[in-house]
Amino acid sequence: MDKFVIKGGNPLIGKVTISGSKNSALPILAATLLTPEECIIHRVPDLSDIRYMLEILKFLGAQVHYEKGTVRVKNKIINWIAPYDLVRKMRASICILGPLIARCGKARVSLPGGCVIGDRPIDLHISGLQKLGANIDIIKGDVVAQGGQLRGTTINLRGLYGSTVLGTDNVMMAACRSEGTTIIEGAACEPEVEDLAKFLVSMGAKISGIGSQRLIIEGIKELHGSEYTIITDRIEAGTFAVGAAMTKGDLFLEQAPVNHMTSVLEKLRDCGVTIQVEEKGLRVSRSGPLKAFEIETSSYPGFPTDMQAQFCAMATIACGKSKVVENIFPNRFMHISELKRLGANIELLKNEVHIYGIERLSGAPVMASDLRASAALVLAGLVADNTTEVHRVYHIDRGYEKIDEKLLAVGAMIKRVYSKT
Ligand code: EPU
Repeated sequence: MDKFVIKGGNPLIGKVTISGSKNSALPILAATLLTPEECIIHRVPDLSDIRYMLEILKFLGAQVHYEKGTVRVKNKIINWIAPYDLVRKMRASICILGPLIARCGKARVSLPGGCVIGDRPIDLHISGLQKLGANIDIIKGDVVAQGGQLRGTTINLRGLYGSTVLGTDNVMMAACRSEGTTIIEGAACEPEVEDLAKFLVSMGAKISGIGSQRLIIEGIKELHGSEYTIITDRIEAGTFAVGAAMTKGDLFLEQAPVNHMTSVLEKLRDCGVTIQVEEKGLRVSRSGPLKAFEIETSSYPGFPTDMQAQFCAMATIACGKSKVVENIFPNRFMHISELKRLGANIELLKNEVHIYGIERLSGAPVMASDLRASAALVLAGLVADNTTEVHRVYHIDRGYEKIDEKLLAVGAMIKRVYSKT
């Protein structure tokens, strides 16, 4: 397994071009299953999760061509079963369920199971699709949908921890080809859900209320092929912004989706970071002290759970005590014990952490556990004394396109050491 070797101490200075959004690209690729016609998707980031999704589409019968950020895909669908071996690698593969049911009237998709960020149930996906008329059972660890005519109805997707992003995607995609009108109440409003809705509209779908908690979908019989460009990744942009803040750097984040980053940028400003919105992106720099802060994660437009770990890394060197409350995935704190290995002073209490900033972290070997936790460890390594080794970086390769090359280009001392096996 590859690792990163990072020598801390250099400020990040220069320009980083932000890639296409992973969490938009995955459901949009799944949505191409809704039509037999060709879809052309631009700005698709080159990530292992994207490669897994393309493998799944190919397994289902698609012709796929992926070059220079553009995917051309034509879904014949000769198979409606996605086995465990393919699906287990990536939770987001569950978003093929809605399109398969809508297009084939049946689907068998292995249950994705939990992961290190905590329990990841799909009860809301299943009950939403059942309300549309799909007959769904769980058989031998697979979600099996068979028969049933999809008919529009009113569905509430609000759960205990807020709305569900991929659940909204699944139900919205199935509703596009259902008979009659579907109203989704408590829909997730994340920009990635909005992006999927716009892609579906470009395929002929009739959706109103896009970007709101109430989506109204008039079902149609067929969707057609489309050409579409995905939004840029607000979490990648936010991660580099935190990198500039932590290292006292000065980064221009080209193509950063400023409008999707309001809560993160506000918090960075509160911490003493300078944010300048420019025509083609965002400039982030810091010269003064980094102030402690309080954040609480919530659904969009609140503070994103996918930026929580990176802000924890920042708090380890901020002046004073920071408080971080995680409301979406209450156990998403795997990075805390690793940050402590770098000398961070952190107390973990249920779903919140108190972080007492120290002057300097000290480099050590650490283990990446999930995508955003790995990003937090890389950020910490950039400001730690001596050398930090981040092991198991395949987690970071799932969601950050060429992060080591991008960091190297703006002054970080980071090296990927390839595993021998
Ligand atoms: N939930 C339920 N029942 C469900 C579905 C979700 O109770 O049927 C709960 C979850 O346990 C969680 C909350 O609802 O407490 C929100 O989960 P959600 O369904 O919104 O998460 P997701 O759709 O599986 C997406 C992103 C995650 C991101 C979350 C929250 C993709 C591919 N994944 O996951 O991204 O953290 O929304 O914004 O879009 C990441 O990129 O690192 C990542 C984990």
